[in-house]
Amino acid sequence: MTLNTRHLFSYAAGALASLAAINAADSTSTPPETPAGTSIEGDYTGALRPRAHFSPPKGFMNDPNGMFVDNNGTWHLYYQYNPTDIVAGNQHWGHATSPDLYHWTNQPIALAPPNSTAGVFSGSAVLDPNNTSGFFPNTTDGVVAIYTLNTPERQVQELAYSYDNGYTFTTYDEGNPVLDVGSNQFRDPKVIWYEDHWVMVIAYASEYTIGIFTSPDLKDWTHASNVSHVGLLGIQYECPNLAKVPIGNSDSSNVTTSDGEGEYVLTISLNPGAPLGGSITQYFPGSFNGTHFTPRDNAARLSNFGKDDYAGQFFYDHPVSIGWASNWQYTNSVPTGNEGWRSAMTLPRKNYIQDNGIAGYQLVQEIYDLSPILKNRLQINDDAANGTTSAHFTNAVYFDINVTLPDSPTFETVAGINFTFAADGTDEYLKSAYAFAGSVPYSVWIDRGHLDGFEHPYFTDKFLGSQVRAAKRIQGVFDRSLFEVYVDGGAVVGTSVVFPSTPLTKLDIGSSGLPEGAQVSVAIWELEDTWA
Ligand SMILES: *[C@@H]1O[C@H](CO)[C@@H](O)[C@H](O)[C@H]1NC(C)=O
Ligand SMILES: *[C@@H]1O[C@H](CO)[C@@H](O)[C@H](O)[C@H]1NC(C)=O
Ligand SMILES: *[C@@H]1O[C@H](CO)[C@@H](O)[C@H](O)[C@H]1NC(C)=O
Ligand SMILES: *[C@@H]1O[C@H](CO)[C@@H](O)[C@H](O)[C@H]1NC(C)=O
Ligand SMILES: *[C@@H]1O[C@H](CO)[C@@H](O)[C@H](O)[C@H]1NC(C)=O
Ligand SMILES: *[C@@H]1O[C@H](CO)[C@@H](O)[C@H](O)[C@H]1NC(C)=O
Ligand SMILES: *[C@@H]1O[C@H](CO)[C@@H](O)[C@H](O)[C@H]1NC(C)=O
Ligand SMILES: *[C@@H]1O[C@H](CO)[C@@H](O)[C@H](O)[C@H]1NC(C)=O
Ligand SMILES: *[C@@H]1O[C@H](CO)[C@@H](O)[C@H](O)[C@H]1NC(C)=O
Ligand SMILES: *[C@@H]1O[C@H](CO)[C@@H](O)[C@H](O)[C@H]1NC(C)=O
Ligand SMILES: *[C@@H]1O[C@H](CO)[C@@H](O)[C@H](O)[C@H]1NC(C)=O
Repeated sequence: MTLNTRHLFSYAAGALASLAAINAADSTSTPPETPAGTSIEGDYTGALRPRAHFSPPKGFMNDPNGMFVDNNGTWHLYYQYNPTDIVAGNQHWGHATSPDLYHWTNQPIALAPPNSTAGVFSGSAVLDPNNTSGFFPNTTDGVVAIYTLNTPERQVQELAYSYDNGYTFTTYDEGNPVLDVGSNQFRDPKVIWYEDHWVMVIAYASEYTIGIFTSPDLKDWTHASNVSHVGLLGIQYECPNLAKVPIGNSDSSNVTTSDGEGEYVLTISLNPGAPLGGSITQYFPGSFNGTHFTPRDNAARLSNFGKDDYAGQFFYDHPVSIGWASNWQYTNSVPTGNEGWRSAMTLPRKNYIQDNGIAGYQLVQEIYDLSPILKNRLQINDDAANGTTSAHFTNAVYFDINVTLPDSPTFETVAGINFTFAADGTDEYLKSAYAFAGSVPYSVWIDRGHLDGFEHPYFTDKFLGSQVRAAKRIQGVFDRSLFEVYVDGGAVVGTSVVFPSTPLTKLDIGSSGLPEGAQVSVAIWELEDTWA
């Protein structure tokens, strides 16, 4: 994350608030108010609180950090966290754990800055079973966190290690920082293991460059190569990831996961300056040989057609990712601040690369197995073509639509499937649809412009994602103040924060104009309230 550029570019109210917070922090050098080990209690009853997505107990959250799975199978999510205010600043690493990526337990703060002028910025975590770091006298479960320590003068990379599966960390005071290039725009290290050495990707944020460094022990880092000026530039590059993901074919049921084959993907988040404004993530499928990454083609591809999916990170050694569901343009102003918290994470996603023919290789982001929270099926309709299927829900709702078309289908001039979330007794609604035919065929769109809970000059309200062929499956989750739609198992994904002034509790799924012989099946599920 960047505090400096956000001041220059974000909307005045949020920027001034966070500037005030940072100036207050700059004026003293006392120890942090909220040291590591502090437990933060949360009130999860607010009307805008997501029930199935992660959000922090209170205060302000941004980038996911340090994600790994411990040897007990527990998923660890750390995150950029201001525990003392509802705007960015005073950056700590918050921490939560989960057995299934949906039921989260808040843990005490994992990392705190050494004093109030410093910030623990984004980074990653690895398992060190071979004790390459030498930190672990008595365990093969060692965890090492690699993060940026931000001070007014520098951004340097530091280590902290854990003997207890990532619940508590010791900072490597005798050796930190382990990487310092003398820059104040050098951050967000993401580390992976490649055959016989560690590899870090890191952003030279204001030089449009991702540096690749290697190390035998996580302590001594050698510059290996740069990836510069690729795809979209925006104003700064942040939060790179290099991950090996399986390759699947266009039938998502056939993904090669077990043979160790895979494609590398480099993700680069950019902010500000996304095509839709503010922050977004682009990605590059390609090959990696231990020191150099080579993109497969010159295309810039975005991982989301909405505005609210940034700084996504892959779990260490797992092709599973989570993003930050917000946008720096308005994140410091969103109305969840009235409930004492700001920002949620995206749904967890299982990723693979698909050969999309002439369009090249594409990242597919499936919703990670939802079955642990699919508690109550509200509707099932196997004959939903040209009809409407409706359900009432209270918390979060999931819908799943399969479409089987006849060979060589011809569509009416307007043909599609819409999903409308409404409040009883008001005229507010959230509208989204997949269009098979019409002004933009084979496209999915979200319109959050009919909700009354938030106004902001950059809170754009209409989004469109397109693909080249007719959808076979459309899934979506509406979760109080967050909506996500996934087409064809995550080939096209739209994530949008939404702010109704009263809770939306009714879903209508309608379809029309589908050709004779088309079959549409719809299921609607109430999701478990994971915070109850
Ligand atoms: C705060 O900590 C940073 C990082 O260790 C250090 O560079 C800086 O001098 C400290 N500032 C004060 C005022 O103690
Ligand atoms: C650990 O050591 C084994 C055996 O040498 C090796 O195959 C593996 O790649 C190493 N992994 C890490 C993360 O050090
Ligand atoms: C890990 O490495 C350190 C430093 O070389 C060593 O002191 C320690 O005994 C090693 N731990 C194990 C379990 O081998
Ligand atoms: C392992 O060693 C560390 C460092 O000496 C110590 O803090 C920890 O308690 C030890 N753990 C066990 C299980 O002996
Ligand atoms: C790992 O699981 C074992 C067995 O359930 C448990 O005793 C141990 O406390 C767990 N360790 C951590 C750090 O969660
Ligand atoms: C890599 O990029 C950084 C940032 O632009 C630059 O300082 C460095 O010289 C580059 N290294 C090489 C080998 O090109
Ligand atoms: C899955 O893909 C592999 C490799 O492309 C192919 O050999 C296999 O037949 C496919 N299996 C199915 C069920 O489509
Ligand atoms: C990796 O690729 C780079 C650039 O093509 C090349 O210079 C280097 O020798 C390669 N390294 C290995 C180990 O193949
Ligand atoms: C959704 O589709 C149904 C069936 O085509 C149609 O009657 C309805 O007007 C549409 N609703 C919206 C909000 O677009
Ligand atoms: C849907 O309605 C259109 C008329 O609007 C009709 O031509 C078509 O056969 C219907 N499709 C199905 C699957 O019933
Ligand atoms: C849609 O298809 C998927 C995979 O084929 C299946 O798991 C799911 O249950 C289907 N959903 C509906 C509503 O038919």
